[in-house]
Amino acid sequence: MEFFDYFSNLFGDRWPALLESLKGEGKATELRFGESFEPYYLDEASVFAARALGVCPGDSVLDMCAAPGGKTLVLASMLKGEGFLQSNDRSPDRRLRLSHVIENSLPEEWRKIVSVSGYDGVKFGLHRKESYSKILLDAPCSSDRHVLNSLSHLEVWSVKRVKRLAVEQGGLLASAIDALKPGGTLVYGTCALSPMENDDVVKRILKKRPSMRSVQIAELPSGADRTEFGVHILPDRCEGRGPIYCAKLEKAP
Ligand SMILES: C[S@@+](CC[C@H](N)C(=O)[O-])C[C@H]1O[C@@H](n2cnc3c(N)ncnc32)[C@H](O)[C@@H]1O
Repeated sequence: MEFFDYFSNLFGDRWPALLESLKGEGKATELRFGESFEPYYLDEASVFAARALGVCPGDSVLDMCAAPGGKTLVLASMLKGEGFLQSNDRSPDRRLRLSHVIENSLPEEWRKIVSVSGYDGVKFGLHRKESYSKILLDAPCSSDRHVLNSLSHLEVWSVKRVKRLAVEQGGLLASAIDALKPGGTLVYGTCALSPMENDDVVKRILKKRPSMRSVQIAELPSGADRTEFGVHILPDRCEGRGPIYCAKLEKAP
């Protein structure tokens, strides 16, 4: 199958162990913000990616592709009710789940500064130019761990599809950059294995948007790999966490 050939070539000797770990249990942590709120279980690598944005109370934050909402919970808990958080997702069904998660897992004083919207992410750069101090773009991606565990998804996986997704990710990233205030920070993330959806997307945008520079993320989880522009957390070396890729970018003041 194309999926196995492609990743076996990409990861070489590492692939058999990585493949086994991708089939195994993930490593989720419980997000719970008080006795009376619903717990939410999120992969620890996803928590790391959301925290990497370095949100502080008072920030104006956009979570551009936010549903079902795990990373939005992390961002809201960092804002602590000061500033604002726009949790956006284009899919109506997934947005319902997002609203439910915000409503049921966040205390009222943190929730009151969170708004849910349903725009196409590529529109933000035009309609919300230089509006946010921090942006998380957790982009739609191949979701390779999910693909591996679903025969129907494995059958439609192709390098061509990965390339198509990379083009879409590049469009969303350009839009996120244009919506970022001068001096602002952005985290681009995926749960994809291929560099085509990760470093390559970042590399291309850095050429097109000279106001942006890549920033090293400090204090990586043990076992995580540094890549040219970001961090790749893969389950074979990170006790089941991931896959998560994230890269941090800053806009010149
Ligand atoms: C990887 S998931 C986001 C996961 C989420 N950040 C979390 O932590 O729960 C990607 C999301 O992007 C949304 N999406 C896809 N294309 C989009 C677009 N053009 N604009 C906005 N959202 C989009 C999908 O509906 C999906 O919910």
